[in-house]
Amino acid sequence: MPVSVTDVYQSITVVFPSSIVELKDIRKSYRDLSGERTILSDLSLQLDAGDFVSITGPSGSGKSTLLNLLGGVDLPDSGSVTICGDDISKKSESDRTLFRRHNIGFIFQFFNLIPTLTVAENLRLPLELCHTDYSSDLIKDWLERFDLSLRGESYPDVLSGGEQQRVAVIRAAINRPSLIIADEPTGNLDKTAGAEVLDLLQSVAASGTCVVMATHSDIAASCASRNMILQDGKLAVTQ
Ligand SMILES: Nc1ncnc2c1ncn2[C@@H]1O[C@H](COP(=O)(O)OP(=O)(O)O)[C@@H](O)[C@H]1O
Ligand SMILES: [Mg+2]
Repeated sequence: MPVSVTDVYQSITVVFPSSIVELKDIRKSYRDLSGERTILSDLSLQLDAGDFVSITGPSGSGKSTLLNLLGGVDLPDSGSVTICGDDISKKSESDRTLFRRHNIGFIFQFFNLIPTLTVAENLRLPLELCHTDYSSDLIKDWLERFDLSLRGESYPDVLSGGEQQRVAVIRAAINRPSLIIADEPTGNLDKTAGAEVLDLLQSVAASGTCVVMATHSDIAASCASRNMILQDGKLAVTQ
């Protein structure tokens, strides 16, 4: 059943399909000087609207590789990556880019805001790339709700790490994507700033977006509604 919610997306009702992620029998390997190394094998995963999932696992276990496959940044050697009912592993690179723009938001450890654009301009970018019809108050409203109302005209380099990451969360969420992929979103933040970002991710998930977060932090994982560990190329549910 589709899930219909408002909340962080305010008065706008967003209808998400119930099944957001379906990975089937994924295999991914890399070839380097020592030969071929299998990173993910026979990996399957199904996630629904509103799920907030943490993925932990040792460095090098393949968390970022898995997130890149989920976002269509990279392709599996075999298996299918279905997002909102669309098998993105069968799409061309340019179609995957378009699909990503409309359906998926990304959050990175080092924020990755565009340094030559102001905060408001960074937030306008995803809206304009998707030709979204938005009110002139939309960005102001998001900034107010995320305690950034004085920062709209600032450039990212004068913001604290926590503020930059809150802007990055808004940028990922502003188009109301079905899926947000966060790769170590609190890895470069102190405890307080990290807690604020996790709080925002919880609100985004409560509004129906599916959030998948790779993390090394037990505190971050404890904020998710489902916990998984990536080990030996496969995902195991820990809670
Ligand atoms: N493009 C690539 N080419 C070759 N090896 C890679 C590439 N990307 C990642 N790897 C290797 O795949 C393994 C998993 O990496 P990664 O997904 O970044 O792990 P994690 O995010 O869990 O730390 C690592 O051993 C890494 O060196
Ligand atoms: Mg990683």
